[in-house]
Amino acid sequence: MANTIKIPGALDPHVHLRGMDWSHKGTFAGETAAALAGGYWAVLDMPNTPPETTSPQTLATKRAGLAAQAVCDWGVYFGGSQADNTAAYTPEVVSRVCGLKLYNNATTGALLIGDQATRARHYAAWPRTSRIAVHAESETVADILELVRAHRVPTHFCHISTAEEIRHLRAAKEAGLPVTVGVTPHHLFLTEADVAVLGALGRMKPELKTLADQDALWDAIASGVVDVVESDHAPHTLAEKASDRPPAGVPGLETTLPLLCTAVHDMRLTVERMIELVALRPQQIFGVRPGPETYTVIEMTPFTIERANLRTGCGWSPFEGMSVMGKVREVWVRGRRVFDGERVLAGPGSGQSLYGGAA
Ligand code: NCD
Ligand code: ZN
Ligand code: ZN
Repeated sequence: MANTIKIPGALDPHVHLRGMDWSHKGTFAGETAAALAGGYWAVLDMPNTPPETTSPQTLATKRAGLAAQAVCDWGVYFGGSQADNTAAYTPEVVSRVCGLKLYNNATTGALLIGDQATRARHYAAWPRTSRIAVHAESETVADILELVRAHRVPTHFCHISTAEEIRHLRAAKEAGLPVTVGVTPHHLFLTEADVAVLGALGRMKPELKTLADQDALWDAIASGVVDVVESDHAPHTLAEKASDRPPAGVPGLETTLPLLCTAVHDMRLTVERMIELVALRPQQIFGVRPGPETYTVIEMTPFTIERANLRTGCGWSPFEGMSVMGKVREVWVRGRRVFDGERVLAGPGSGQSLYGGAA
């Protein structure tokens, strides 16, 4: 194949696969198929879909659902709650999850932790051998950095979106704190100006920001302050988005790699840096390795992002109409072709658990 990019084990460490009580938005089978079609070997699923992953029971429910239905490899986060659930942080639970997620600003779902004392209890209880991922916006970034300084639990800052947040995190890295930084394609390729056109389809948390903020994210990719690009794939139905109170969140699993390949084509990003951002760094940070013969082949060919080409259950994208460069042609996992550019070839349940073996 002429002009292709080969990615070894692309891992999206921030997705909301839905299923369970939110199966109308997406299912484990459908959204993991979207992951394969998007070029991903594996995904890490967030805990906010009800029933929230905040107890050993709900963790077992989610893991059983994924074990039965997932077509890509997977891990799940445990969620910290405002009502103290730290008694659940046993070695058994910790070994079965990719990390703990703390929501420190208002978001979709019921997992907001608004006060620093409660956050500190979670930091004190979660082991340093694992990791914490945080939703923290603006001043909250500094609040969380205090906890990282005090407790030294490796902390991944999800979907960082402003120049000011980047400044805080660059300083934290220079000071040697164990922090890593994720940014999303929507903050890299859209700005607040796009909300006028997209309406509710351009609403997510964190909200789209200014062009200056977007420039700061690209600079932070170039300078190494940003560690990973994560989709924050968060499907909601078109009917929900058209309602009076549209929920925040946009799908992204099938558009991240084409958008980044477009940046490579436009020479805003090198191929090597892209592979670090979507595969090598996520693997290191979350402590997993793809098996042998696990890779994605992308052909550098142009196409337009359209509803008709998407597999995600929600059936839309904030990037519709964009001309991009980079079609996922093949995904191989452990020597088996699981996506051929048109069809997902893996059967339900063939995706493996990355943490703690079978459910
Ligand atoms: C996410 C969702 O819908 O689950 N929404 C979003 O806007 N990103 C929640 C989240 O990641 O904060
Ligand atoms: Zn979030
Ligand atoms: Zn999210």
